[in-house]
Amino acid sequence: MSILNDKRLLLCAAFVEGRVAADIGTDHGYLPAYLITEGICERCIAADINEKPLASAAKTAQEHGLEEKIEIILSDGLKNVSLDGVSDIIIAGMGGELIAQIIDDCPRIKEGSFHLILQPMTRPEALREYLYDNGFTVEAEKCVHEGRFEYSVMSVVYTGSRPEYDNDKRYRHFGRIDLSAPACRAYAEDRLGKLRIAAEGMLKGTDSHDEGERLMETVRTLEEMM
Ligand SMILES: C[S@@+](CC[C@H](N)C(=O)[O-])C[C@H]1O[C@@H](n2cnc3c(N)ncnc32)[C@H](O)[C@@H]1O
Repeated sequence: MSILNDKRLLLCAAFVEGRVAADIGTDHGYLPAYLITEGICERCIAADINEKPLASAAKTAQEHGLEEKIEIILSDGLKNVSLDGVSDIIIAGMGGELIAQIIDDCPRIKEGSFHLILQPMTRPEALREYLYDNGFTVEAEKCVHEGRFEYSVMSVVYTGSRPEYDNDKRYRHFGRIDLSAPACRAYAEDRLGKLRIAAEGMLKGTDSHDEGERLMETVRTLEEMM
């Protein structure tokens, strides 16, 4: 049986391009263990800010005899992680703003040719906006349905230049997904539903009414794209 059954993390794994991956916020450490046992990577870093998930990641590595191949590191983002030899950096299962903060706190990301695999749980638009404004290009984005939720995973590189696409409503809210793919359509519909609920909530408040109208206008623009 495979170490990994979670379709969201399997999609992250499918984006890995090189032989050494750093999984930031690894928690149980299943992703690094999967990448090695499947022969995708020869070495992985499993980093987390908390001791408890790291102990769990160490246990996963031990159970599969991978102690020599998975380096377990206590780290806030990439602060204690040496990126020497690392090809892919995976940051999954966190809020979009936290992922953006972790990237921003690591200037080294802009100095190498790292491949980033990013999977925001919330506020993906904040992450996409950060990436656009800071020289990162989203080269591909795919979606997956897991449990009751829709997720998108981004494949990102630093170019230092403005991306060739626009930082428009479609990019910020739907990302670079292909709306003709069923999983991506489901993701876009889910995003639209969440935005509509947020806009309706704002429209009820006096202080947030104008913001609600702007958000509802965004919802209408996005609906026309569907
Ligand atoms: C919800 S879990 C996601 C685990 C796994 N990456 C996934 O996608 O299933 C989030 C993990 O990120 C860790 N984390 C939160 N903030 C972090 C930070 N600044 N640096 C490193 N790890 C962090 C948490 O301790 C937790 O283990």
